[in-house]
Amino acid sequence: MATCWPEPIVSVQSLSQTGVPTVPNRYVKPAHQRPVFNTTQSEAEIEIPVLDMDDVWGKPEGLRLVRSACEEWGFFQMVNHGVNHSLMESVRGAWREFFELPLDEKRKYANSPDTYEGYGSRLGVVKDAKLDWSDYFFLNYLPSSIRNPSKWPSQPPKIRELIKEYGEEVKKLCERLTETLSESLGLEPDHLMKALGGEGKVGASLRTNFYPKCPQPQLTLGLSSHSDPGGITILLPDEKVSGLQVRRGDSWITVKSVPNALIVNIGDQIQILSNGIYKSVEHQVIVNSGMERVSLAFFYNPRIDIPIGPIEELVTENRPALYKPIRFDEYRSLIRQKGPCGKNQVDSLLLSR
Ligand code: OGA
Ligand code: NI
Repeated sequence: MATCWPEPIVSVQSLSQTGVPTVPNRYVKPAHQRPVFNTTQSEAEIEIPVLDMDDVWGKPEGLRLVRSACEEWGFFQMVNHGVNHSLMESVRGAWREFFELPLDEKRKYANSPDTYEGYGSRLGVVKDAKLDWSDYFFLNYLPSSIRNPSKWPSQPPKIRELIKEYGEEVKKLCERLTETLSESLGLEPDHLMKALGGEGKVGASLRTNFYPKCPQPQLTLGLSSHSDPGGITILLPDEKVSGLQVRRGDSWITVKSVPNALIVNIGDQIQILSNGIYKSVEHQVIVNSGMERVSLAFFYNPRIDIPIGPIEELVTENRPALYKPIRFDEYRSLIRQKGPCGKNQVDSLLLSR
């Protein structure tokens, strides 16, 4: 893996703050990747499913709802998810304050492509690639042995404590969801957790995304189309500004987030483990000229050093194994070289028949 970026890193936030009237060429996407803003009335009414988790946990009908959301959308919003609402607001607010710090302060945490940990502005190390209109901060969270306190921001003063508190709550939510996903696939509640490598061995990381105002949002993307490489993602969206779009056939559905909801999406590893029953669906982020946007993506991932392939019970005569097994560290390093690339990475594991 490369240890430095192929080109000097430019903070998109600083670029935006200079008041550039046009988007520099390296952020201008080819025409077929540019976002479509004027959706028709009927498309505008379609929404990703919203699940009240009080109706899901431990309820057979709930398992059916989860299953259909994961098969059809790969995404759903959760209300009554159990994570404290004021904690959600505080941790997002603390990250907002972090991004408001002077560039020199943030640059103390500048990241490199070997671990991605820290403050950065690009995904992938392909030279001359078109870049996304965003900055981010990436932190390893689990297993706790890989936590590196010197990589965690020290400003604003309360941020470290808030990240820890939020991380603990979301980790518990992911454990509960893992059981639910397992049961919704017709497996024993602990089957999926075992397949991910077991509690205490699974990985998790947090990426806080910062999408600055953009003078020409129609030419670029805050985050290019991708599916998440890991297991389950829990997204805490901005409370005021939308931007996340989920692929539905040939169109993109802009998610209207419900107040205090968390958004779940299935990552490539669950698609692989479920033998393609559950889908890691492509998504992207659009930006706008009036408001900056902050989101926190908590990635819950398999243990890095075991092969991840379709769960045996989900391989049948009618549904032979679709994917060849791969270790998550290997998979992740491929993604880290290429950056966001739709579903190309998971599709490359398809067994031909
Ligand atoms: C991600 C992601 C969506 C968002 O970080 O992988 O898809 O709304 N983020 O920021
Ligand atoms: Ni994503």
